[in-house]
Amino acid sequence: MSQAPHARTPAGIPEMLLAGVDHEALEQKYVVLKEACTHFLGYPVNLKHDYSELARFLEFSINNVGDPFQHSPIHLNTLEFEREVIECFEWLAGGAPQETWGYVTGGGTEGNMYGLYLARELLPDGMVYFSEETHYSVTKVLRLQHMPNIMLKSQPNGELDYEDLEASLRINRHIPPIIFVNIGTTMKGAIDNLERIRAILDELALTRHYIHADAALHGFGLAFLDDPPPWNFKAGIDSLSISGHKWLGSPIPCGIALARRQHVARIARSVESVNLRDTTLAGSRNGLTPMILWHGLRRHGYHGLRTMVADCLATAEHAVHRLCAHGFAAWRNPYSPIVIFPRPPLPLQSRWCLAPQGALTHLVCLPHVTPELIDRFVDEYVASMNGAPTNVR
Ligand SMILES: Cc1ncc(COP(=O)(O)O)c(C=O)c1O
Repeated sequence: MSQAPHARTPAGIPEMLLAGVDHEALEQKYVVLKEACTHFLGYPVNLKHDYSELARFLEFSINNVGDPFQHSPIHLNTLEFEREVIECFEWLAGGAPQETWGYVTGGGTEGNMYGLYLARELLPDGMVYFSEETHYSVTKVLRLQHMPNIMLKSQPNGELDYEDLEASLRINRHIPPIIFVNIGTTMKGAIDNLERIRAILDELALTRHYIHADAALHGFGLAFLDDPPPWNFKAGIDSLSISGHKWLGSPIPCGIALARRQHVARIARSVESVNLRDTTLAGSRNGLTPMILWHGLRRHGYHGLRTMVADCLATAEHAVHRLCAHGFAAWRNPYSPIVIFPRPPLPLQSRWCLAPQGALTHLVCLPHVTPELIDRFVDEYVASMNGAPTNVR
């Protein structure tokens, strides 16, 4: 914005709203956002969606307060859409009918917080184990909930170091473990091996345990593959978090928290004043995001979503080949749309919105990332890396 839009009142609110200069500010922002979409490769957000059919619902102050599976005293709700979304994700995540429960969250972080909250209520004396490649928000959640925890080493591909897990569990055998499993790490898209983790728990006879799966991005993709690695309720997890705005895509951040029903029963409280069952973390909850997720699932359908996931993985493979063909050490973990490669100079990193980690960066091949866009990026990358070392992994 070139100039202050209005003289401000002492409280800091403009005297008059939406004059010509305000419209200009909105227009400028629109143009900037539109342009930013053309070079967006480094963050796990699908920009290819069309929810314009839902625009008219902005007219309403929708609020999905309370448990989506209970009657709400607030008639301005979209709970029937939320229930359908949850049932869909329960099915995708291998939850047995009537044995899992869930709700639409504000994003993956809230779903992880929910899983850890349930874990702490069930195992108040528990210890949380998580790997160093875990999303940064998790240490904050652990601090917030005062949960004792141990950060474990990761392997070079981003997967949990199982020997470190076993050694740490062995030392703390008297403490029930809460294992925070990555079903796709943020940076490298590595999937922790649930079979191996459960074998370690069995071997140490640690029968009182809780497993939460952070499937923020990859959970959605794995649900549409023919032969995925174990990742969901069928593999013995207790709760799961998936982001809605990542692979499926949503203009408003959102997510899905799922958990075994018997665990949720332990934390549910009745709130007489609003006549509802309090099972969610937030009070007032977004009523538009369940409609967005519902619309996204319905518009594509099961086979459309399978194609979407397969296309993203093919684009990721194309990116690996293109970068390797130019001598750069690009690679990806199996089942992941994330491609890791040496970090370019800052101007290119910033132009393509790439997230760095040390000497590495990555690109995330979601539906708006086409092979043609990858080709354009690779041309610019090769030019910018002229003579730079290429063997960093
Ligand atoms: C593995 C993982 N967990 C959690 C999160 C946080 O999810 P959200 O941004 O939806 O809160 C992310 C975000 O990128 C992630 O990659």
